[in-house]
Amino acid sequence: TQYQKGVKHLYDNGIEHVPRKYILPASERPNVVNERSRDATHHINLKLPIIDFSELQGPNRSQVLTSLASACENYGFFQLVNHGIPYEIISNMVDVSKRFFELPFSEREKYMSADMGSPVRYGTSYNQTNDGVFCWRDFLKLVCHPLPDLLPHWPSSPLDFRKLAVRYAKEVKFLFLMLVDAILESLGLMNKKKTTEKDEDKDEDEKKEILKEFEDGSQLMVMNCYPPCPQPDLTLGMPPHSDYGFLTLLLQDEVKGLQIQHKENWVTVEPIPGSFVVNVGDHLEIFSNGRYKSVLHRVLVNSMNYRISVASLHSLPFKSTVQPCPKLISETNPRRYMDTDFATFLDYIKSRDATKKSFLQSRK
Ligand code: SIN
Ligand code: FE2
Repeated sequence: TQYQKGVKHLYDNGIEHVPRKYILPASERPNVVNERSRDATHHINLKLPIIDFSELQGPNRSQVLTSLASACENYGFFQLVNHGIPYEIISNMVDVSKRFFELPFSEREKYMSADMGSPVRYGTSYNQTNDGVFCWRDFLKLVCHPLPDLLPHWPSSPLDFRKLAVRYAKEVKFLFLMLVDAILESLGLMNKKKTTEKDEDKDEDEKKEILKEFEDGSQLMVMNCYPPCPQPDLTLGMPPHSDYGFLTLLLQDEVKGLQIQHKENWVTVEPIPGSFVVNVGDHLEIFSNGRYKSVLHRVLVNSMNYRISVASLHSLPFKSTVQPCPKLISETNPRRYMDTDFATFLDYIKSRDATKKSFLQSRK
């Protein structure tokens, strides 16, 4: 049917009303009419905590780690600036994503697949085989690890797609590993004040082991395209959800749309050009035994602007089990989550409707 061709297709055909398939029940709409301002997208703008990555490498590391811990505890989100990835690599990634979605439908359609395990998957909505109500998004998902095996499956059009996406994926992966290093330290897993040198070595070894597992970990890139929507108050670009991995590094263009749940409100994240929005995923919430929070977020659409975002989701290898870190469990802080793995997650999303919320709830 028409829906399966996605929202870019609807937009290109100049529709003036949101088809019924996309209209959310009143209680799940973004609630534009109840906001004081007509334009909810611009209503509550939250200043997310900002983490200066370059400061993490300098003499202020311990202060930055404290801010990092507080951001992960209180917001589940932060904005990462001065991260060292050249601006050109970032802007090329946004640009080539845009150009991919501008390809004729017949070209994009080649990558459509109902198989969740497919190394490349083009689609629309959240999960187009299950969603009762569709959301206003088209996407391209690329599995990025192990890259040499997967690259031949990636789109070969636009001609520079692979080159630019690979360059970006590698940079983001490296940045992720540096962030994991900081996160482990912020959780107190490698306390520098040890009584003996031996203790310190043991902690360093443990950290290295965890980092090594992440080096071989999963990476999934999702390019999202949200065309202008004639009735943005009736639908969403993405329904409320939490991310299942360890960390997500999100690139958004200059168009607002991402909202996070903070103190019972939906608040809009102000784009900072060239920065990353980083959020705690379910796996990190579980690993930290609940200290760091995987927070619900959603995407609003608007009637004026195209919006492009690129999310890079990182976690342990697909075969790994995710569990609370033993060092973060004690008599006063008992274990709060069940073990989980990717297979369980895949089963979950196969049956998941876009209007249902968080995988994490089933892991507690
Ligand atoms: C996401 O939640 O993965 C994407 C959010 C966005 O497009 O801003
Ligand atoms: Fe997300």
